Amino acid sequence: MKQSQNSMSVVAAIYGRHSVRSYTPEQLDRDTINVLLAAAVRAPTAIHKEPWAFVVVQGAGLLRRISDCAKAFLSQEIHHAGLHTGSHALDTLASSDASVFYSASTLIVICADTTGAFFTADCWLAAENLMLAAHARGLGTCVIGCAVSALNSAELKAELGLPAGTTAIAPIIVGVPADETSPTARKEPRILAWK
Ligand SMILES: Cc1cc2nc3c(=O)[nH]c(=O)nc-3n(C[C@H](O)[C@H](O)[C@H](O)COP(=O)(O)O)c2cc1C
Repeated sequence: MKQSQNSMSVVAAIYGRHSVRSYTPEQLDRDTINVLLAAAVRAPTAIHKEPWAFVVVQGAGLLRRISDCAKAFLSQEIHHAGLHTGSHALDTLASSDASVFYSASTLIVICADTTGAFFTADCWLAAENLMLAAHARGLGTCVIGCAVSALNSAELKAELGLPAGTTAIAPIIVGVPADETSPTARKEPRILAWK
């Protein structure tokens, strides 16, 4: 896989990346998605296991069904935990026809073979690589953690072709941002010890 022609310093990508929650209808092509997946698999991986595998969802009907399933899981989780609204995910749920995937038309799910000890860490490292590579190409991304339970339901695992022993870890929407948004603020690093 050739590297992307897009150039942006890694520092610029780290500081410029931010979650995008509004997208144009433009569909990403396979070459673009393959560039992002190639960046994802360059992540460090414990004992070189490379536990990741990817599901790409671009069909509007399937995205809608996954979103509806995610909202049903969220309702249950909110009910059981006695949570209040306030987070993006819960606000989205409160609006009945909103999709948990906002207006994105591509969802990339980073999945893992769960036999090793560090598959979760490996997949999240791959997720950040993917999001930085997308940002460097002018694309927006957002992790959609609220879809994880739905993606791991028996019904959706079967539909998406996730084999036994494979778990959806990191759902990430990708697309062309509909408008300009800025990175969000961060607290200063909290240093507990420097000896
Ligand atoms: C594990 C994880 C789960 C997340 N789940 C959601 C989600 O379900 N919906 C959403 O809109 N954003 C979600 N986010 C995005 C965060 O809200 C966002 O990263 C955070 O507010 C910081 O903003 P930034 O990404 O723009 O820097 C998630 C992020 C992470 C790391």
